Amino acid sequence: MERQKLRIGIIGLGIISDAHVEGAAAMAEIATVTAVCDIDETKASTVAQRFGATVYTDYRRLLDEAEVDLVDIILPHNLHYPVAMYALERGKHVLLEKPLTIDPAEGLALIERARAMGVQFSVAENTRFVTAYVEAEKLLRAHALGDIYQIRTLIAGSEVERLKNPHPWKAKKIGSGGGVLMDAAPHTFYLLKWLFGEVATLQAFHSQLVPASEVEDNAIVIGRMASGATFTLQFTFTAESPWTERLEIYGTTGALIIDQIANPPAIVYRGTEDFYGTPLAGVPYDPVHWKYNSILDETKDFIQTVWDSGVPKVDPADAHYGLLMIEKAYVSARSGQPIAFAELAKSGE
Ligand SMILES: NC(=O)c1ccc[n+]([C@@H]2O[C@H](COP(=O)([O-])OP(=O)(O)OC[C@H]3O[C@@H](n4cnc5c(N)ncnc54)[C@H](O)[C@@H]3O)[C@@H](O)[C@H]2O)c1
Repeated sequence: MERQKLRIGIIGLGIISDAHVEGAAAMAEIATVTAVCDIDETKASTVAQRFGATVYTDYRRLLDEAEVDLVDIILPHNLHYPVAMYALERGKHVLLEKPLTIDPAEGLALIERARAMGVQFSVAENTRFVTAYVEAEKLLRAHALGDIYQIRTLIAGSEVERLKNPHPWKAKKIGSGGGVLMDAAPHTFYLLKWLFGEVATLQAFHSQLVPASEVEDNAIVIGRMASGATFTLQFTFTAESPWTERLEIYGTTGALIIDQIANPPAIVYRGTEDFYGTPLAGVPYDPVHWKYNSILDETKDFIQTVWDSGVPKVDPADAHYGLLMIEKAYVSARSGQPIAFAELAKSGE
């Protein structure tokens, strides 16, 4: 007998949902979208028509009534916890957009509930699927840059319009849980944990250039990894450039510089005389689609993982770790003090 396809519910059909919807559509051999939900019924209807899915404007009704095995949640940050918890409690597999939650304790509660229910749960952390980072991981695992001494990252783009014209949640603390740190730093702390391990110390600084909003729009976090490497992480919502991410890794035998809007986007350098470097193989120049494609791939991967009863590539525990770093970065920015994690663990804070 032919196996029944996975039935997918998509909740939240805003700006970034396109890549999730296309990801689900691309898995038509094993999955089908049966229900969609947005408080904006027009948005929900448009997507529903494409799949012949049922339209909901209340996520509770979707989760109580619709026949769905897997839900993809793409909502404002303050809704991540209640909606994901509601879905997990009803035994659904859940893919949840970043950040895991606003409050780390709630993030942990989701992870525990998923475990207790025996369902698959992952955070849509597209970083894990960005081609340049996947190739960087191969270099690092092969120790091809030697011991790593310094790491620099940047996430830059503009949210000025959404911050200025009071967006329903982006510019509001209650909806977003914070500004550029809460929004962008989950990607970077995930990247650090995935490629370099744990953070030992950090100190953060943030500022707000768009007065109409309630949240910080620029931030810098500096610190040291447990490995000894130092790091500088920069985040801006006020860069009038295409959205980009930079990653610079400096090791004892070489350096790798990635910038998604540079051409080529990833170059390996071998020493001070290697002026032109060597483009990192397998990383296409695609300033328009690099992020979209990574979100598409993460969605496809999660659906396939549920189908195969496998283990999702993004462990939500790593997203939770990032959230703890963000929480401490806010504490540091407010107090003006650095934070050392080994000492925190010892003191039980
Ligand atoms: N991985 C990435 O690179 C990336 C990029 C952008 C956004 N995101 C994340 O995706 C999520 C959504 O971001 P966005 O930019 O698409 O936001 P958005 O505001 O464009 O979309 C949110 C959608 O949720 C709907 N909504 C709000 N409350 C609802 C409710 N109670 N029930 C059902 N629908 C509701 C809104 O009508 C809207 O369509 C956020 O968590 C954000 O951080 C991730």
